[in-house]
Amino acid sequence: MLNQHKKKILLLNKISSVAANILRNKGYDVEEINQLTHDELKEKIKDINVIGIRSKTSLTKDILENGKNLIAIGHFCIGTDQTDLDCANRLGIPVFNSPFENTRSVAELVIGYMIMLSRKVGDKNNEMHNGIWNKTSKNCYELREKTLGIVGYGSIGTQLSQLASNMGMNVIFYDIIPKLRYNNSKRMESFNKLLKKSDFVTFHVPLTNYTKNMINKDNIMMMKKGSYLINASRGKVIDIEVVSKALKDGHLAGAAFDVYPEEPKKNTNSYINCLQNCPNTVLTPHMGGSTEEAQIGIGTDVANKIINYIECGTSLGSVNFPEIDLPVSGRTRFINIHKNEPGSLQLINDILKDINISNQVLSTQKEIGVTIVELDSNMDKELLGKIQSLDCSISTRIL
Ligand code: NAI
Repeated sequence: MLNQHKKKILLLNKISSVAANILRNKGYDVEEINQLTHDELKEKIKDINVIGIRSKTSLTKDILENGKNLIAIGHFCIGTDQTDLDCANRLGIPVFNSPFENTRSVAELVIGYMIMLSRKVGDKNNEMHNGIWNKTSKNCYELREKTLGIVGYGSIGTQLSQLASNMGMNVIFYDIIPKLRYNNSKRMESFNKLLKKSDFVTFHVPLTNYTKNMINKDNIMMMKKGSYLINASRGKVIDIEVVSKALKDGHLAGAAFDVYPEEPKKNTNSYINCLQNCPNTVLTPHMGGSTEEAQIGIGTDVANKIINYIECGTSLGSVNFPEIDLPVSGRTRFINIHKNEPGSLQLINDILKDINISNQVLSTQKEIGVTIVELDSNMDKELLGKIQSLDCSISTRIL
């Protein structure tokens, strides 16, 4: 059973210092370490109440099961596949991330890509670095009145849609879910129609069984001759061998890629892929969401979600845990996480039968249920101990 001792928070992977400052200002004991090996982390996690990671750390089942005092996990990034989410759910540990804070950064980079591609900067930059001064307006265009086809009209797709519309582009989009149109954008009823109509095609979908190789040898020729292709979503969404060929054949006038089917795990001087040295091709190392603003935004967002959970039990925004929130009234309050079985809440409330419950919320997801309870009077340690000792209880904490 955990109560209000000074929480120990471990932040790995060079998380923005903004996060550490916010957490320290709340009085928590924050330790920052760049990287731990799997075995080091498995040992270290035993004493930790909250861990913050980015993409370089994996929280596997064996590590999580060692985290006997762990109450929350912060992913100071977008993705959450580094943690075994089902295991964390079973153990009653919420995982928080920050899905929107780098949206703008990606959208702005795509605007930049489009300008560079349509002015042939992919080639001109290389030429200038090699001493070639080759001024020409041939095949260089403005973005205004060109058609941008956005595949995946979610957070990034819609943000990009608004920026591109404001620059005078005609925006069309394709999404599997009906979406609100921004500005004068138009929804395409099929992906193929978008490919045929667009001067620029840009991908902003997640990687799923349906989005893998969305551009492939069977459909690349549906794209207009002289059009441009952009991918800043996930590498496996596009077959890059096919794109490389279309660039060399001249069917595509250029391409910009930020993500690739195979990406190195760390910085290297020997990365190779088939898009290198293709005509008018801009390549960046998966940095679409990597800006100072995004890192500060993510640090602030996830740190605040962790504080809300530690102090109020609020789990809104968690990706693996029942979402629960109860306005704070100043009364005695506790959170109990239990197995999602019939009768669990009844057993807890039976123990409280002599105390008036002033507020209570329950939410369940997968293998667990979470209840936040507010009481009219103080609760002694004995009652809390009884709740914690129930077979169905996973953890109980006074807030
Ligand atoms: P989101 O979840 O807000 O939007 C994704 C959209 O794709 C949704 O509207 C969804 O309905 C749609 N979609 C899913 N399957 C589809 C299909 N088969 N056809 C058409 N539409 C489909 O995601 P968000 O935040 O806009 O991110 C988009 C992608 O960008 C993700 O893959 C994400 O991992 C990636 N990303 C890349 C970054 C980078 O550094 N390059 C940074 C941030 C995100």
